[in-house]
Amino acid sequence: MSPDDASFPASDPPPGPVQAPDPARPTPDDLALIDAARTARERAWAPYSRFRVGAALRDRQGRVHLGCNVENAAYGLANCAERTALFGAIAAGVRPLEIESLAVIGDTAGPISPCGACRQVIFELGGPALRVWLANLRGDLRSVRADELLPDGFRFDGPADGGGP
Ligand code: THU
Repeated sequence: MSPDDASFPASDPPPGPVQAPDPARPTPDDLALIDAARTARERAWAPYSRFRVGAALRDRQGRVHLGCNVENAAYGLANCAERTALFGAIAAGVRPLEIESLAVIGDTAGPISPCGACRQVIFELGGPALRVWLANLRGDLRSVRADELLPDGFRFDGPADGGGP
């Protein structure tokens, strides 16, 4: 078949099996989210550990919510960047499972690895299939689902209606 025989416009991809998006390859939106996490990291308040972390999530309406770690002289009260972003989104009106993707960044040797507490919160508020981008300042990137970060995450089988009337 010569190119003249083609019955589809030249700008269309050739017919063939539909390609599923590669979850390991960031889209421009994913890269923008990682960049937003980098900006959030600059807002971290980490005078005790001096380890700054940033997080950003995109909600279903395309809005981006930022989070950074916030420490306290009572060390145990530190809040991680991931939970700051997730809790901020909830306070802004985003409902659990209405989150498209989450990005986290820190100055680590490889892509940052969230703590156990954050894995539980990511799993519950983001859902098991949430796409999570883990990054560092050097551009290393790892893409995981929430249920890869937390296999067998805790689920509470009581009412999950937000506690409202
Ligand atoms: N931290 C985060 O914000 N996210 C992580 O994924 C790992 C740890 C914070 C908590 C604390 O403020 C500092 O990093 C050192 O543990």
